[in-house]
Amino acid sequence: MMKTHTCGELREQHAGQQVTLAGWVHRRRDQGGLIFIDLRDRWGITQIVVDRAEAEAAHDTASRVRSEYVVQVIGVVRLRPAGTANPDLATGQVEVAVSALNILTESKTPPFYLNQESETDEALRMRYRYLDLRRARMQKNIILRHKAVKFIRDWLDREGFVEIETPILFKTTPEGARDFLVPSRLQPGKFYALPQSPQQLKQLLMVAGYEKYFQIARCFRDEDLRGQRQLEFTQLDLEMSFVEREDVISLMEKLMIDLVTHVAPDKTIYQTPFPRLLYKDAMELYGSDKPDIRYDMRAHDVTDIASHSAFPVFVNNAAEGKPIKVIRVPKYTSDVSGTRQRQILAELEQVAKSAGAKGLAWMALPLNESEEVRGPIGKYFTVEQKLALFERVGAEPGDLLLFLSDKREVCWDVTDTLRRHLAEQMKLTDPNVLSFVWIIDFPMFLWDEENQRWDPSQHMFTMPMPEDVHLLDTDPGAARGSQYDLACNGHEVVGGSIRIHDRELQKKIFPLIGQTMEHAMEQFGHIVEAFEYGVPPHGGCAWGLDRVVALLAGEPNIREVIAFPKTQTGSDAMAHAPSEVDPAQLEELHIRVVLPEAKKTSQPQ
Ligand code: AMO
Ligand code: AMP
Repeated sequence: MMKTHTCGELREQHAGQQVTLAGWVHRRRDQGGLIFIDLRDRWGITQIVVDRAEAEAAHDTASRVRSEYVVQVIGVVRLRPAGTANPDLATGQVEVAVSALNILTESKTPPFYLNQESETDEALRMRYRYLDLRRARMQKNIILRHKAVKFIRDWLDREGFVEIETPILFKTTPEGARDFLVPSRLQPGKFYALPQSPQQLKQLLMVAGYEKYFQIARCFRDEDLRGQRQLEFTQLDLEMSFVEREDVISLMEKLMIDLVTHVAPDKTIYQTPFPRLLYKDAMELYGSDKPDIRYDMRAHDVTDIASHSAFPVFVNNAAEGKPIKVIRVPKYTSDVSGTRQRQILAELEQVAKSAGAKGLAWMALPLNESEEVRGPIGKYFTVEQKLALFERVGAEPGDLLLFLSDKREVCWDVTDTLRRHLAEQMKLTDPNVLSFVWIIDFPMFLWDEENQRWDPSQHMFTMPMPEDVHLLDTDPGAARGSQYDLACNGHEVVGGSIRIHDRELQKKIFPLIGQTMEHAMEQFGHIVEAFEYGVPPHGGCAWGLDRVVALLAGEPNIREVIAFPKTQTGSDAMAHAPSEVDPAQLEELHIRVVLPEAKKTSQPQ
C-alpha cells in the first residue's frame, strides 16, 4: 500500500500504530540529529520526525529532501511531547516517528511559496497553475465547487429533474456575445458554433417532453474578459414545462438558500425571502440591474425641489427633462477639514466623470447644527429648499449629499459607479453577507442606437408579459419581458425567463430585432419547425455557477474557483493557448490565415 492513512487523518487514538504516509514536503526543519517534515496531501498536514539515532538511513535521505519533494514514510504514530502540540493543525496532537523514508520524486524549487498565503504575482500563478492549485486556498475553493455541484445535482434529482448533455459542436446560439467557431473538415467551408448557452437545445428538450431538465453546462462566449467573465464558463442550466414565472423563481430561491445553508454555512443571507425589485426601480434607485443592496446610498429623485433652486445647471437640465438626483452618503468627510473635504470631493468628482458625469455638486451637513452647510451649491438653495431636500433623502448631521444631473442613463451609470466606489472605500462590502435580490419586469427590448434596431434585453426566446403582447405592434420599447434575474452582492448570478411557446409570436420577434425572416429561418428554422408539433408552455433559467461558487467561497474573482481559467487576454498562460497551428492542419480544414497588417510586420521572418 502506498499509504495507509491520509495526512489529515491521524489523531491521539492512532498512537502506537504503524502507518505509511505519502505526500508533498510542505516544510522541512533540520535540527541536526532531528529532522522535522510537515507532510502534506489533499486532506491535511502531519508532522514527521526523523531521528538520526533511530533511523540513520532515513535521516540521510531526509537531509536531502527539499520543499515539494514527493516522499513516502513508514513510522509509528506517537503523541507529541507535552507543550509541543500544534492547535492550528487537525493532526497537531500527534507526530509520526519515522523508520523508513523514500523519495518518490524530487522537485525543483517552486517559483513561489506554496506553504504561505502570500500575495503572489497573478501571471506567475497562471503560468504554474498546477502549483498554485496545490495551495490551501485553491484546494479549498476547488473542493467547495465540487460540493456545491454535488449538492445541486442531488437536490434537483430529488425534485425530479433529469440531467441531459447537449452538444458542444452546434450552431449559433445567440446570447449577445460573439460565437466561437469550429471549422468542419468533412464539410469544407462550413463551421460549427460553440454554444453560448444550451438555450435552444433545452427548449427543444421541452418540446421532446422531458419537463424538468438541468445540466451543468459549459458555455462559450467570445467577449471581453472584464469583470466576472471568462471565455468559457459553467452554467447550471435548467428548464421546466408547465410553469409560470413564480414557479421558477420560488424553486430557484429554495435551491439557493439550501445551497448556501449546507455548503457555505459561514455565510449569512442578507434577507429572505429574497427581496424583489422592478427593473425600472433598480435602475432609478441603484443605477444597475444587479444592485448590491448590502448598503443603501440609493439615488433619490429631487428634480421637483432642485429645479426651483437658483443653480443654472439644475434649472436648465430640469427644463430639458433631465432628472436631478441625490445620493446620501452617511457620515462621509464629516471629520475632515474644509480643505481636505474639497480635495476628497474633487477625487470623487473624477470618479463620477469617469462614468460620464459632467460634474458632481455636493452639500456636506455639519455635525454641529450651529455650523453652515458646506459645498459649492448651497448658496443657490433657499433654507426651505434645503430642508425639503434633507427631508426627502433622510439626511442626518454629518451626511454628505452628492448631486447628479444628466440624461437618465448617465445618472444610472454614475449612481452605480459612485455606489460601488464608495462602498469599497467605506468597507461596506462584507463578503460573508450574501445580498440576493430578484430583478423582474425587464423591458423586452433595448434600443440599439448604432444599428438602429431593437435588441432583445435577454434573448429572442423570452416571452413578453402577457398584458404587454399587444405592444409588440405599437410600442415595442414599452413591452416588458417575463425575464427574471437574481443578483447578489452586485453581480448577476442567475438569468431566466418564461419562453415564447407560440410559433407565430416567435416569428414576430425576428423582424423586430433586425433579422430578416430568411436569415432567421436559416439559423433558427429548427425551433420554428419544432414549434409546429405541440409545445408545452415552458421557462427556466441559468446560474452563472462560477459566480455563485466565488460568492460561496468569498472570493473576489471567478478565476479563483476555476481550476484552469484564462487570463485577461484570453490566454492559457500555462499551455500557451491559443497558439499557432501546423500549416498541414489548416490545409486539411481548408483555412488560410490572413493576419491584420500590424501583426504581419511584427511576425518574425
Ligand atoms: P445569461 O446570458 O444571463 O442567460 O447567462 C446566465 C448566467 O451566466 C453567467 N455568465 C457568465 N459567467 C462567467 N463568464 C461569462 N462570460 C458569463 N456570461 C454569463 C451569469 C449569468 O447570469 N440561456 C440564458 C438563460 C435562460 O434564459 O435560461 C442565459 O444564458 O451569472
Ligand atoms: P460651478 O458653478 O460650475 O462651479 O458648479 C458647481 C458644482 O456643480 C460643481 O461641484 C460641479 O461639479 C457641479 N456640477 C456641474 N454640472 C453638474 C451636473 N450636470 N450634475 C451634477 N453636478 C454638476
